[in-house]
Amino acid sequence: MTTAAFLDSLFPRATDIPPAYRLDGPIEQREYLVDGTLHTWPGALAQVRSPVYLAGEHGDEQVILGSTPLLDATTALTALDAAVRAYDRGQGAWPTMRVAERIGHVQAFLARMRQQREAVVKLLMWEIGKNLKDSEKEFDRTCDYITDTINALKELDRRSSRFELEQDTLGQIRRVPLGVALCMGPYNYPLNETFTTLIPALIMGNTVVFKPAKLGVLLIRPLLEAFRDSFPAGVINVIYGSGRETVSALMASGKVDIFAFIGTNKAASDLKKLHPRPHRLRAALGLDAKNPGIVLPDVDLDNAVNEAVTGALSFNGQRCTALKILFVHERVVEQFIEKFNRKLASLAPGMPWETGAALTPLPEAGKVDYLQGLVADAVAKGARVVNENGGQTRASFFYPAVLYPVSRDMRVYQEEQFGPVVPIVPYSDLRTVIDYVLESDFGQQLSLFGNQASEIGPLVDTFANQVGRINLNAQCQRGPDTYPFNGRKNSAEGTLSVHDALRVFSIRTLVATKALDGNKALLSEILRNRDSSFLTTDYLF
Ligand code: G3H
Repeated sequence: MTTAAFLDSLFPRATDIPPAYRLDGPIEQREYLVDGTLHTWPGALAQVRSPVYLAGEHGDEQVILGSTPLLDATTALTALDAAVRAYDRGQGAWPTMRVAERIGHVQAFLARMRQQREAVVKLLMWEIGKNLKDSEKEFDRTCDYITDTINALKELDRRSSRFELEQDTLGQIRRVPLGVALCMGPYNYPLNETFTTLIPALIMGNTVVFKPAKLGVLLIRPLLEAFRDSFPAGVINVIYGSGRETVSALMASGKVDIFAFIGTNKAASDLKKLHPRPHRLRAALGLDAKNPGIVLPDVDLDNAVNEAVTGALSFNGQRCTALKILFVHERVVEQFIEKFNRKLASLAPGMPWETGAALTPLPEAGKVDYLQGLVADAVAKGARVVNENGGQTRASFFYPAVLYPVSRDMRVYQEEQFGPVVPIVPYSDLRTVIDYVLESDFGQQLSLFGNQASEIGPLVDTFANQVGRINLNAQCQRGPDTYPFNGRKNSAEGTLSVHDALRVFSIRTLVATKALDGNKALLSEILRNRDSSFLTTDYLF
């Protein structure tokens, strides 16, 4: 295979970068947020490397973006202690605050966050290589998520503002916080996915320790002051460092009540096991997935190809919801591959800020080698790279490789590649595909492409007990954020959506009494005198 010409001009020279997207120089971050104060970390720092390289006279040079604090366990524990104090066994100002007031704090944060859009978007591009359009989308979607969460909480509160009467028992039911939440997000959506747990946790009255993802860390820095100024001291604490050093200590302390984590099931299991009180700990987990796309013989092939290309390759396949294996009926597989490759060839490789750039460098160290290993394994076992330039690399860039025919003995059949490798498995008997799903360790989503009702209908029934979402003639995805997002087996614990997340981070408490005149009079007086924040019929508009 000769090296593709586009690789020669892939990485820019420093002067080629448009001024609006240049960085002013390395950012040395020493700040971390504990107990309402931005502290300066005097110790070791972790270097932050960009997936972007610059072409120079001496070859490609990786851009160093700066550094972030490598806190030790003792310092990480000061953040947890601050959160524990702010929660104060449920008696703190934050967990006892009226809902309307807590909403006010989150609104204040959102207003400050919006002012940082440009800074955060720029860092998303430089730190994880997400293209401009998707980086902007991630930021805006996160702001929308916060607004939707506020509205969902108002709705929830309105429904809780009435008394129920059942079997002569009068009751008022409200959702109240659980305690201290530890929130950790993934590198592929370092802002959005983290905030989909962080914001519901906060708004329900929990206090939080937040540790940014392994990559996409500096982009939280522009928000630190907004966090500090928008919430009472100790309500939100932001720490940095190696998970092994910091998070292990937090979990082992036994003081974490809710563990919100998006990452691998192995890391989640290791961390959960450290907690000494398993029944105290609640978990909201988004984990590994190997979502299959299943192409039936009677299908709108153009639509299937369009959806499969974006499903498998948007953000270079680095989405938990990406289509990670395609089962294509042998009657249409050749045509499918031809159309798939044509569409793939139209995706432009480039730097994240370049107009139309769809394929960008990968941020994880060692990822290109890992993907090359997956491809080599498949090729050694009989697959071919069937697209032009497939698998070509330059430094952190890996041009998508379409592998065909993939079979069950290849690593890529089971392993979650989380990158631009597209395994295509031909099938003639649907049983092979059904068994794959039934036997899989994962159960997040799948996509079915076909147009025969008599075929699709029963397949929906077959898969309904296997995955959290079945997409018909569409790629897998999380959105709209009002829909449930979950998974079975090793893919998730709990369900997230705007509506569900408020429930995940809270518990219902019921105040009940016999419907006797004396009790009714007591309740009426409490309401009239506004003696309680819980017992109230105030209506939140
Ligand atoms: O990485 C997993 C994300 O939740 C996927 O979200 O389907 O909107 O890209 P998305």
